[in-house]
Amino acid sequence: MNIKLIEKELNEVVSDVNVIFLKKDELTECEHADILDKAGFKAEQDSICFLYEKGLLFCGVDSKKSDDIRAATAVVIKALRSSNFKSAKIAILSKSIISALVEGVVLGGYEFNDYKSEPKLSSFEEVFLVSNDLDYTKVEDNFNEALIVASATNFTRDIVNKAPQEINPQTLANVAKELAKKNNLECTILDESALEKEKMGAMLAVGRASVHDSALIHLAYKPKNPKKVITLVGKGLTYDSGGLSLKAATSMVTMKMDKAGACAVMGIIKAVSELKLDVEVHAFIGAVENMIGGNAYKPDDVLVSRSKTTIEVRNTDAEGRLVLADVLDYAQDSVKADYIFDFATLTGACMVALGQYTTGLMGHSHKLKHDISRAGSESGELISSLPFNSHLKKLLKSEIADISNTSSKPYGGAITAGLFLDKFIREENKNKWMHFDIAGTAYTEAAWDCNVYGGTGAGVRLMCEFIKEIK
Ligand code: BES
Ligand code: ZN
Ligand code: ZN
Repeated sequence: MNIKLIEKELNEVVSDVNVIFLKKDELTECEHADILDKAGFKAEQDSICFLYEKGLLFCGVDSKKSDDIRAATAVVIKALRSSNFKSAKIAILSKSIISALVEGVVLGGYEFNDYKSEPKLSSFEEVFLVSNDLDYTKVEDNFNEALIVASATNFTRDIVNKAPQEINPQTLANVAKELAKKNNLECTILDESALEKEKMGAMLAVGRASVHDSALIHLAYKPKNPKKVITLVGKGLTYDSGGLSLKAATSMVTMKMDKAGACAVMGIIKAVSELKLDVEVHAFIGAVENMIGGNAYKPDDVLVSRSKTTIEVRNTDAEGRLVLADVLDYAQDSVKADYIFDFATLTGACMVALGQYTTGLMGHSHKLKHDISRAGSESGELISSLPFNSHLKKLLKSEIADISNTSSKPYGGAITAGLFLDKFIREENKNKWMHFDIAGTAYTEAAWDCNVYGGTGAGVRLMCEFIKEIK
C-alpha cells in the first residue's frame, strides 16, 4: 500500500473513496445527515459508516486533534483494506495532524504475514493525503519525516514479531549488521570471548544455558559536528523462558517480545540516520537467550558484574536487569554521552502499575523527565513517571552480595528494577540517564490506537520526537 502527498484542491483529486472525519456536533450539518442517521451513525470516536455507492467513508472522532485522528485513521485504513476499492483520499485539515494521518495509515495498516502460507490479499493500493496549503514545502517536510519515523516503527515491529527460532542473539546481530550496511552506520559485535575479556559475568550467566552464543551489539551514527551525543541501550532477550525460575506456560507465550527494547533502539537509530539529524547516536544491545539446562545459572548463584558489583541471583527470571547492568557499564566506558536512555521490557509490575498503554519512565533528573514527557505527548506515545525513593532501594539489599536481583517485597517491582539498574549508573551520569520500561507497551494482543496485534514499536516515535527537539 502506498501513501502519497498531493498538493491540490480535494475535489481535483480522483480516487475511489473520500474519507471524512466527523465530530458529533458536525453530524446534523453534514450534507449526508439523513442517510447517516438512517444507518444509525452517531459519530462516536472510531465508528465508521461506509456509503459504498457514493464512495464516502465517514469516521467519527471526538476531536480533530492528533490523538483522535490517528486512532480514527487506523480504523479507516482497516475498512479500506477489507473493501474492494483501490484508492482513497483524505484532506489534511491542519498541518498539526500530518504525522497522525501518516501514522494512522502506515502503522494502523501494518500486517505481519511472514508465517502465513496464504496472506490475506487486499486490492486497496493507495492513500492520497491532500493539502492545498500555501506553505506546501513545510507540509511536505512534515510528511516525509513522519513517513521515515513510521517506517522505522514498522521495522522495529517486524523484528519483534519474528519467532524465536528465527531471531536468536546471533541472527539479531545479523539484522544489526544489515541495517548498518544499508544506513551507513558503524557496527561492532562483541562475541562471547570478547564478553569474557570484558568480564561481563552478569550478562554471560543469563545466556549460559542457551545453544546460541550471547552478543553485545554496538551501532553508531556519527554525523559531523553533532549537537549532542546519545547512548541508547536495549534489552535484547530473544527469548525469556524465565530460566530455572521457569515461567508458567501461559506467561511464557509472547516472550519472543522480550527483545523489543533492542528492536526499538535499532528502529530509533535507523530513523535518526534517515532523518539526517545532527545528533550522534549509539545503540548498545545485550542480545541473550534465557533458557534452562544443566549449565544454567541458578537462584543462589552470586555473579560478578563488569563493574565488579556482586549480584545475588534470587530469581533467574529477573534476567533483563543482569544483562543491562553489564551493557550499561560497558556503554558508559565506550562513549561519553550527554544522554543515556535504556529501553527494556523489564517488569510485569510496570503493567500492573500503569496499564498496558503507558511506558514507565524512571530516573533522577526532573528536567529530563519533563522534556521526555513533552516529547511523549507530541509523539502520541503515553509515558508516565514512576518515582524512585530510598525505602524501595533498601529492598534490594543482599545478605551475601552487594545487591540482590530481586526485591524482598512484592510491591513496586517496576521501580525496584529501575533502582537495580541505577546501581550501575556512574555518579557523573546519574542526571543523564533515564530508564524506559516498555513491558506493557511494546506488544499487544488486541488492537489499540494505531497498534495492531504484535509488536508496537514503542519508543521509536517518542525518541525521534525527543531527538528532533534537541538544541
Ligand atoms: N521479560 C520479563 C518482564 C515482562 C513480563 C515483559 C510480561 C513483558 C510482559 C522479565 O524478565 C521478568 O520476567 N520479570 C519478572 C521479574 C521478577 C522475577 C522480579 C516479572 O516481571 O515477573
Ligand atoms: Zn524474565
Ligand atoms: Zn525478560
